[in-house]
Amino acid sequence: MRILVIGSGGREDAIVHSFAGDKTAQGQPAHQLHAAPGNPGIGRLATLHQVDINDGAAVTALAEELAADLVVIGPEAPLVAGVADSLRAAGVACFGPSAKAAQLEGSKAFAKEIMAAAGVPTAAAILATTKEEAEKALDQFGAPYVVKNDGLAAGKGVVVTKDRDQALAHAEACFAAGAPVVIEEYLDGPEISLFCITDGTTVLPLAPAQDFKRALDGDQGPNTGGMGAYSPLPWAPSDLTDQVMEKVARPTVAEMARRGHPFAGVLYCGLALTSRGLRVVEFNARFGDPETQVVLARLKTPLAAMLLAAAQGHLSQFTELQWSSQAAVTVVVAAEGYPGAVTKGGPITGIERAEANDAVTVLHAGTALNADGQLVAAGGRVLNVVALGRDLDAARKRAYAGVDAISLPGSHHRTDIALRASQL
Ligand code: AMP
Ligand code: GLY
Repeated sequence: MRILVIGSGGREDAIVHSFAGDKTAQGQPAHQLHAAPGNPGIGRLATLHQVDINDGAAVTALAEELAADLVVIGPEAPLVAGVADSLRAAGVACFGPSAKAAQLEGSKAFAKEIMAAAGVPTAAAILATTKEEAEKALDQFGAPYVVKNDGLAAGKGVVVTKDRDQALAHAEACFAAGAPVVIEEYLDGPEISLFCITDGTTVLPLAPAQDFKRALDGDQGPNTGGMGAYSPLPWAPSDLTDQVMEKVARPTVAEMARRGHPFAGVLYCGLALTSRGLRVVEFNARFGDPETQVVLARLKTPLAAMLLAAAQGHLSQFTELQWSSQAAVTVVVAAEGYPGAVTKGGPITGIERAEANDAVTVLHAGTALNADGQLVAAGGRVLNVVALGRDLDAARKRAYAGVDAISLPGSHHRTDIALRASQL
């Protein structure tokens, strides 16, 4: 297949690595891979193209020029902007939901409405557009307070705090920027990410993973896009996936279809296992980053064929997926300052040394080549060191050995990714 992957993060590098693993009977690469805009890591396996990824006409023109058999859209912004609609209108097979369906991620209020209609368990929530409404909602739910920007905010629009003034300040900052906020009940209990591939009718769950959202060890510090992840989850109930399918994924996909806006792509179910049962924390309309890096590291079923089937409405061909029995851990190496203003341009060395262990892959996220051809940091989350091992303890030791081999001045990473789960 000729496949075009849209995006430039660690998630897209993981997807490209997964595609690159498919071989023909003769042992040749099964696919011709392209990416836009990609990054230097993705460029190791795919031809890179410069295009405005939020411009549907431009992405469609590129896909047609490449005669792409499949376009896979990684990030949420092009989905919400309708890039999948442009591709499909031109007859190009595209993995990723329509703009309307992507509102499950693009608007927290819309997601709440769908969940209410579909009977999906989630935190009680109130939409507020003024300071008075926000204060009333905060006092109704009490501490800890959860205040969410209604629109897309790259994983940073949510404040969870016991400090009422801080909660209110976040609401007022969102209002000042023109966005309403969703204020909701606090969900206790561990969080899980479960990605469900769907063609709008058939729903196929991948393996659950756990993300580490806070910047610092011990779940301290500000929320980030995700500082690391692992899979599988040895502590999760054995019927977790069945429960999510029955209570969350199938009813949501059915409700979207009923409204005439079928959701085809990956429905990312962000869940909390609370003392009162399973609750949806959020939906995303795309693969999670960095959870995808560990989920795909363990997936043995060819991803490209599965995503093409989802794009073409034939996902029912796939029933059981094959998984490696190994565990996977990824640790994010972040640039100085992340998740605040980051220092860019720092030189990155040691990737080859990290990858000298075959069980370790270093995926690129925020990297670039400078004028001298030196690999440098170009974003907040710079690298994802992914490792496989016979169990989580072995995988995390390998991942951290990889992190230790890498040097980027001022960089930081969490040291406790998968630690507790590895000790169970
Ligand atoms: P979201 O963008 O909705 O995923 O929120 C980002 C993060 O904030 C989540 O992954 C949780 O860690 C936290 N969070 C969001 N909603 C809640 C909630 N209702 N209760 C507790 N924590 C939450
Ligand atoms: N890892 C969280 C996200 O992708 O939104």
